[in-house]
Amino acid sequence: MANKKIGIITSGGDAPGMNAAVRSIVRTGIYNGFDLIGFKRGFKGLLDGEYSNLTVRSVSGTINLGGTKLHTGRCPEMKTSIGLNKAVKIIKEMNLEGLVVIGGDGSLAAANALSKHGIKAISIPASIDNDVFGTDETIGYDTALNTAVEAIDKIRDTANSHDRVFVVEIMGREHGFLTLAVGMAAGVEVIIVPEVKINRKELYMQLKQGFINGKTSLIIAYAEGCGSSVQFAQEVAKNTGMDVRVSNLGYIQRGGTPTARTRILASVFGAHAVKLLKEGKSNLLVGITNGKISYTPIKTAISSEKTFDIESYNILKKLSI
Ligand code: F6P
Repeated sequence: MANKKIGIITSGGDAPGMNAAVRSIVRTGIYNGFDLIGFKRGFKGLLDGEYSNLTVRSVSGTINLGGTKLHTGRCPEMKTSIGLNKAVKIIKEMNLEGLVVIGGDGSLAAANALSKHGIKAISIPASIDNDVFGTDETIGYDTALNTAVEAIDKIRDTANSHDRVFVVEIMGREHGFLTLAVGMAAGVEVIIVPEVKINRKELYMQLKQGFINGKTSLIIAYAEGCGSSVQFAQEVAKNTGMDVRVSNLGYIQRGGTPTARTRILASVFGAHAVKLLKEGKSNLLVGITNGKISYTPIKTAISSEKTFDIESYNILKKLSI
């Protein structure tokens, strides 16, 4: 009898550690008697029939690689009933036992829609934004966090030398999860996130007070979801008379060698996704909650909002005096 087949898709924005997750699914899948198929460029590869068989050796030397060797993309077609029905038909024709979708929010929605049509779909959260409900941490987040912290450490050198204010823009879509963690680890003076409304007058006073207190630089970690960082910096300069510069960390946050923590998370998540499919389960997101592996219905994950850690935000405020 032929082996059952599992399909793998990396979807949405790439995140460091996606390759480590694919490697884990392939190897634990083969260990459990499955054949593995990797679709190219996210759901587009599924719709266009672009895929290849993944073997134990085809994922050799990938655990340490950033990006995704399967390539990725956002696929608007999957949001239409025509695209969705086509995907369901292809998966049934290919006789796939199930599909593991590695990605962020958009990928979860597609996996949920497929599940509703009787396809066994398991989600692995991968996004530098760490904005997925049902997991304390997404694959790639720790790597992006370390990349951004290293960058701010460097910015701090030049900021100190010139007694300057820097507004550093951090990715995160409409959330400030990454910005909060970066801000805490880099010891920034202020973070601006969509989740917390700030009082501009108080902010300007705080900045002025910083220099009065003997600081030689001020760094503001600014979440991209708050709007233009350039405009914000201009307003700060106008209202404080300070020398303000902007540094948008941009896409360097998405690339690079995954950290050990990201690799471990990806490896463990991948193995659990295979375990769930072997048990015949579907519509589950593999995550980590309070240090333990957790499974959350994908439909719950997409209809719930992850909470912002306001306690850490308040701690940061106290640390920045
Ligand atoms: O979701 C990851 C992310 O990098 C966000 O932080 C950012 O808003 C977005 O993707 C950028 O998307 P794109 O790759 O389409 O430019």
